This record gives sequence, C-alpha cells and structure tokens, in this order.
Amino acid sequence: MAAKQAIDTLTLADARAEHAQLVAEIGHHRALYYQKDAPEISDADYDALERRLAAIEQRFPELAGAHSPTATVGAAPAAGFGKVKHKVPMLSLGNAFEDEDVTDFVASIRRFLVLDETAPLDFVAEPKIDGLSLSIRYEDGQLVQAATRGDGAEGEDVTANVRTIDDIPNTLRGKAPAVLEVRGEVYMRREDFLALNKAQAEKGEKVFANPRNAAAGSLRQLDASITAGRPLRFFAYTWGELSEPLGATQSESRQRLADLGFTISEPSRLCRTADALLDYYHWIGGQRATLPFDIDGVVYKVDRLDLQERLGFRTRTPRWATAHKYPAEKAQTLLKAISIQVGRTGALTPVAELEPITVGGVVVSRATLHNEDEIRRKDVRVGDTVIVQRAGDVIPQIVSVVANLRPADSHPFEFPTHCPACGSLAVRSTAEKADAAAEVVAVESGSPEDGAAMEDAEAPAPEETVAEPDGVVRRCTGGLICPAQAVERLIHFTSRLAFDIEGLGIERMRLFHSQGRIREPADIFTLEKRESERLDRIVTMTGFGKKSVEKLFAAIEARRTIGLDRLIYALGIRQVGEATAKLLARHYLTVDHWRAAMIKAAEERAAQPAERKPELVGESYAELCAIEQIGVGVADDMMAFFREEHNRAVLDRLLAQITVETYQRPTTTGSPVVGKTVVFTGTLETMGRSEAKAKAESLGAKVAGSVSAKTDYVVVGADAGSKATKARELGLTILTEQEWADLISGKTGAPE
Ligand code: IVH
Repeated sequence: MAAKQAIDTLTLADARAEHAQLVAEIGHHRALYYQKDAPEISDADYDALERRLAAIEQRFPELAGAHSPTATVGAAPAAGFGKVKHKVPMLSLGNAFEDEDVTDFVASIRRFLVLDETAPLDFVAEPKIDGLSLSIRYEDGQLVQAATRGDGAEGEDVTANVRTIDDIPNTLRGKAPAVLEVRGEVYMRREDFLALNKAQAEKGEKVFANPRNAAAGSLRQLDASITAGRPLRFFAYTWGELSEPLGATQSESRQRLADLGFTISEPSRLCRTADALLDYYHWIGGQRATLPFDIDGVVYKVDRLDLQERLGFRTRTPRWATAHKYPAEKAQTLLKAISIQVGRTGALTPVAELEPITVGGVVVSRATLHNEDEIRRKDVRVGDTVIVQRAGDVIPQIVSVVANLRPADSHPFEFPTHCPACGSLAVRSTAEKADAAAEVVAVESGSPEDGAAMEDAEAPAPEETVAEPDGVVRRCTGGLICPAQAVERLIHFTSRLAFDIEGLGIERMRLFHSQGRIREPADIFTLEKRESERLDRIVTMTGFGKKSVEKLFAAIEARRTIGLDRLIYALGIRQVGEATAKLLARHYLTVDHWRAAMIKAAEERAAQPAERKPELVGESYAELCAIEQIGVGVADDMMAFFREEHNRAVLDRLLAQITVETYQRPTTTGSPVVGKTVVFTGTLETMGRSEAKAKAESLGAKVAGSVSAKTDYVVVGADAGSKATKARELGLTILTEQEWADLISGKTGAPE
C-alpha cells in the first residue's frame, strides 16, 4: 500500500476523491467477507481502510452521510445463511458394529412389537453414503426450499445452492404430493473429488481432505455460482413432512421417489432375517473399494411404515433403523507424548500426542487413552509405536503398542496425582466417560469444512454412556478454583447442543477466558456492553478483525432467547445430558418453576441423611426422582449443583441477561393426555410395555413406574397385582387397555 497523504494536508477535492474510492473499496471487501466468506485482504488491512475513512470524515464532516460505511459500522449485515426450522426433526441413526449388534437390533424390534419368531418382519438394506444430509421441500411439485441438517431442529437455508445440483429436480416428474420434503445425502464421487482437488491445487486454492469434506465445503458456499461449478450429487433415502404417504412400505416409497425423479441409494436389498442383513453387509463390504463413492456402512430399515410408526424414536435416533458400520481404519504411528486434559467435571483424561498420520482420509494427531488403567493395561509408553484406529464419527483411539519397536530406554507412564491446571489433588472416583470423550473430539475439529464434516457426529451424551466402575477416573478436587474446569464448562456452555454461539469456538473461549473477559456464562452476554467502546482494544488484544468481533456480537445477541432444555443442558451438570435436560424441561416447563423446584429439592436433600428413601426426603426431591428415567444418581448430581451457593449465583446472573422460553411439548397438540401421569400394570394384549410407554410419552403423557396420589390413569392389563390394588385404594381412575386406546385416539372424552 502506498504511503497515504497526511489527512491535515488534504484539500477538500482530494478528500472527496479519496473518500469515494474508499467507500467503493470498503463495500467490495465487505461483500467478499460477509456474502462470499472469501476475504481478499487481512482484517488488519481492512480496518486500516475504515480508520482512514473515519479520519477523512472527521476532518470533512460534509463527506459523511447515511451511505458511508462509517454509518453502518456496528450493524454487521446478516452474515451467512438464513436458518430453517425443520417441521419434522432430522435425526441420526444408531450404530451397529458387530454381528451381534445386528441380531440384537432385530430381536429388540421383535420384542418391542411383541412379534414371535415366525411373524414376518422385512427390512430394506441400503448403502450408507458418506456425505451430508439435506432436506428439500417441494410444494405442488416445485422445489421451494432446501436446508442442511444443522442440529437436527434447525438447519441452514441452502436453496440457491441446491438448485444448481443436477441430481436434484427443480420440478418433480408426474403427480407429486402437494407437500413433500425429500431427504437424502449430498455427496461427491471419488473420481470427481480427485479431479476437483487437482483443479483446486492448480489454481492454488484449498484442497479437501476427503470427498465428504469436499461435498460439505461445496454445498456451504455463500456464492451459489461456486456450488454450481462443483460436481455434487444427491441420493434420496427418506422424507420429512408429507401431505400424503408415498407408499405403505419403505421399498414402495423408495420406488415412488425414483419415479418422481430422484436417484435412490443402490444397490439395496429386501431382507427377512438378521442373517440376510449380515449377508448383504458382507456383500457390499466386498464391493466397497470399487464403488464409485465412499460409504461408511449400510443402513437397515423396517420395511412396513405402519411398524416404523409404532416403533417411533428415541431422543435422536429411530428404533426402526440402524447403521451397520464397516470396521475402523487403522494406521501405525509414533506416540510423542502423553498430555493430560482436565474436563469440565474435573476428570483427568490422558491424550496421546501423535506424529500426525492419515487414518481413513483424516489427519489424526491426537487420540484418547481413556484413563489411567487403560494406559497400564495396554502398557502404552511415550516413544512407542502405536496402532491408531478411527471408525466413522468415533474419536480416534490407540488400539495397541507394536512391542518390538519399543525403544530400550522406555519406562511406564506415571499418571499425575495432581491436577496439571490448578495443582489440586486428583483422586479416583466413579465417573462417566463423556466429558473426556467430548474434549478429544473438540480438539480435532478445525476449519469450517471440518466442522461441517462433523455434522453427523453424535458425541455421547453423559447419561447415555455407561458409568465406569468405581475409581477408574481420576478427578481434580479443585472444583471452582480450577481454571481448566471453568474454561471447559464455558466451552460446553456455548457448544452446539447448548447455546450454540457461532464464532465463539474453543480457541476463542480459551483466549477470552485467559484474558479475563469471560469468566462465567453471564459475561458472554455483557461482553459487547463492556467492550464495545474499547473495540479497538479487543481487536488488538485478540488478533480478531473488527468485523469478526461484530459478527460475534450479533451471534451472541441471537442467542439471548433460549429454550429451557438447552439452558439446562448448557449448565454442564454432571450426568445431565441432552435427554435428561429435555425430560426436566418437559416436566417443569418454565425456568422459574424449575429453578425454584431444584433449590427446594436441594434444601430438602441437604437436611436429610443420605440413605433416606427419596419419597421421605421431601416433596420437591421426591417429585424430581419420580420423573421417569431420572434416577437418584442424576437427581443427586443436580442437588450437588444447586446446593452450591456459587452455582446459584452464576445461574441467576445469567438469567438476568437472557430470556428463557417456556418448553413446548412436541407433537402433542390436541392430545387428550398431555401432562397426565399414567401407570401401566399387568400384561397388555395389543402392545408391549415399551411400546405403550413410548406411545404415551409421544402424546405428552408422563409414564410413571409406581402408583401415587399424583397418578392420573392406571391402565390395567391381565394379572395386574399390587399396583392395581393400590390404585383402587387411592380411588384413582383405572382404565382397561381398550379404554386407554379409546381415550388416546379421541373416541372417548377424559374420564372423571
Ligand atoms: S436414513 C431418521 N439412510 O447417515 C434418520 N441415512 O449416521 C434417517 N445416511 O443422518 C436416516 N446414508 O445423513 C439414512 N441410506 C441412508 C443413509 C443415511 C447416509 C446418513 C444420514 C444420517 C446419518 C446417520
């Protein structure tokens, strides 16, 4: 950049000319930055342009006006893609790895549906394509909107980009349902991926790590003309909202999607038994290397849609389908060091620092070593050559040590007895693995493309992981004084299933925390107020551009209103994962009610001996423990959180900054049993206990395991025992199975 003339020597004419040029230049760079995600100059150079413009306007105020970029500073244009709420959530799939998992999958479906061995049960088996999922909405046969999966509830509007994909019709063939959301996978063929990378390299542009990243990066381009030039394809495999069914079975619906003009995932096969599914799996496995696209497994889906409907969903995955993954890819590399990470609940997790190596198309430089005992069991030592494996979305792991390559002077790893972050004693106690696992994933995520590639990864939620046996995890006892725990809690707070604040990723949070700018959740929401006057200081101290700080402030503002379930999850209370947070939100509905109930329950708990039965501890505590699927262990972790004065203060300071929406119970409008508590007892004739429970919950009822004065309905099957007797004694409403079925189908009104 040529040296600029000093402002105070400029004539008005010079100033006018330079002002016009600067306005044009700034406009150009803003468009590149905000609309194309492709800035040509550094943030610092851009900021220099803005400063020069401001200086000129200060000396010649007549040049400033509403059109000047100086007038629009602070109000960054809406960056990125618009958001789309999915009418039907876009969920993920459960995983099977071993043959036995497939037999279990089939058996559990039979059990749920109470089908005996001889009853027919068909499955469609099809390839699981490794790309990114997309939902495309058609109205009267015309493409009107397309969205990525996002967090499953809300994705990004990529309509303009999707219109450029050849495999995706803009107009459907033949007579289509009035509303049809087609779902499937956007992917890139291997040969197209190689050609794209070659062309990118020749132009000196970014090359992609694998076809999946290339597909994600190409779809998420703010400029649709870039997407148009990329060889994207699409496989249809399911649907979202529909005005009329596509068929009675999965196979009929697939055929219908093909007739409407989509490519469907092939080769597929209709299978009757677990053995037939396994045959298909091995058959496709044999062709895997020669298929034109990458697959990471196969998917099995119950064929009959009425059965799919009865089977329904768990929190994030359907009961009627599963993914059967191919074995992990392995590679050999050097273990350079073992570092210790401290999680948000204080768990010390050993992490292997590796000589970077490509495993299954992704560069791996760190892998989890789980815990102290695991290191001892595998006798992993620094300097060893190790076998690393990576399966699909799963965190890279060390499988074993190559014994004959061990250096002569190696010695066993000594696990620290003190927290590396705060020096407090670290002790062994019961714990769940989840926070450790989530951290290693976090370490691996990098560029936006990588982020998109992780889209389908489902990090284990704490309550979904099995607790390790007593004493396996070593935990820092520093609690609130430990800076590592504090920063991990903040990282969890802004993570995707929690507040999901774009632009406040792991590295930024570490930086803001270390600079003292963000110490607790409320600070995130006061950041702009505290710092905007000193924006220049943030810019120089953090190295972020001014625009990117403005973008961050906008993202924070967008999350000032949040759902109760996300808030509860975000607090990072031990064992309170996504599913538990939803259960709590669903039960207490408003933040005030929930908070008051937790404080009361914590007081009740503290006043009673630990061994006292929950129902005798107090009303609020008993109510919490009575929520189905919330055990005493989870309840006590909640109590431990609320008992701590500091935690309540942190929560209250946060609540002063945000608005928490009342929890909306999904899919229950008009249901006659919303909010009712029901107990099933005895043998039901038409459905199994699990199905009865799942159905009642999907209608907004709470299913309890025991009868109390708060029970609304007791549904009594054959040979009902003491629960029916107790219900009679308490004078509760007792229904036969048929009466219950009539009630939920709306045939009869609610009984008195
Ligand atoms: S069915 C209710 N079928 O795998 C979920 N998914 O790991 C219905 N995927 O999110 C999904 N190939 O993005 C289905 N043939 C296939 C698939 C497939 C790839 C992806 C999809 C899903 C993820 C789950």
